[in-house]
Amino acid sequence: MTTETDDTQPRHFLDVDDLTETELFTVLDQAAAYKRAVEAGDEHTDLEGQTLGMLFQKASTRTRVSFETGMTQLGGHAIFLGEDDIQLGRGEPLKDTSRALSRYVDAVMARVFKHENVEVLAEYADVPVVNGLTDDAHPCQTLADLQTIREQEDGFDGVSATWIGDGNNVAQSFALGCAMTDIDLTVATPEGYELDEEVLERARELGGDPTTTTDPVEAVTDADVIYTDVWISMGQEDERDVRMNDFEGFQVGADLLEHAPEASIMHCLPAHRGEEITDEAIESDQSIVFDQAENRLHAQKAVLSWLLE
Ligand code: CP
Repeated sequence: MTTETDDTQPRHFLDVDDLTETELFTVLDQAAAYKRAVEAGDEHTDLEGQTLGMLFQKASTRTRVSFETGMTQLGGHAIFLGEDDIQLGRGEPLKDTSRALSRYVDAVMARVFKHENVEVLAEYADVPVVNGLTDDAHPCQTLADLQTIREQEDGFDGVSATWIGDGNNVAQSFALGCAMTDIDLTVATPEGYELDEEVLERARELGGDPTTTTDPVEAVTDADVIYTDVWISMGQEDERDVRMNDFEGFQVGADLLEHAPEASIMHCLPAHRGEEITDEAIESDQSIVFDQAENRLHAQKAVLSWLLE
């Protein structure tokens, strides 16, 4: 967690706890302000003349489009670099990519597989680096998730959230975000798919006290928010049969929702309808999934303008 800043170094956003709690609320307030501005048709040109370099080693719909649109809306510009546009796969060291990009752009957003790779990018960058998802963390998603919960619940006081399914990268950053906003978090996973103990410890250090369970019914009962994600992430396709069997009983659908008829349903998308969530659940009045997707735009504009100020 960042508690002191070195003014000579750029700030990075590699996971939620790179922000202090105060900074997190500043970013969330700005995200809400940007959303109101879009709804009112007001223009903000806070990033006029600034360029974001976006490195994608993995596919994306929401992250790419929300960052690029966000830069456009704020008067800036974004450059997309997919796997075929970058030299990383052809032997260029990450530190060289990072140093060179720093000479062109004002910030870098990177979606790379290994978390240590985004850390190397940040170490050698002279400009802020934002993590657009690694195998360990998805902090931009968490910003949008927190903005969505805050809107839906009119704040964070007394809110209980249940993460259900795989204790994956999205879950890990969400656990940290819940700890920083005092959301009472329960994490329900099958045995063998729990959150990393190191992440649970970080959440406790941030003031959270996540409950872990293997009982999905117990976990969703009385929850204000139920949040799920795919059971089979990119690169895990070979594990499909095993995972589909292991996650039986964890689907967000009628059987679980009868125990939580008032809970809001969240999913970071892309969803595999019929697997971790049913068609009916995602289309129901309980679903706030597309508000959550929209908030990626506002939250990322906020974190970019905060980092670049
Ligand atoms: N939730 C999310 O990061 O979506 P994309 O993979 O489409 O960017």
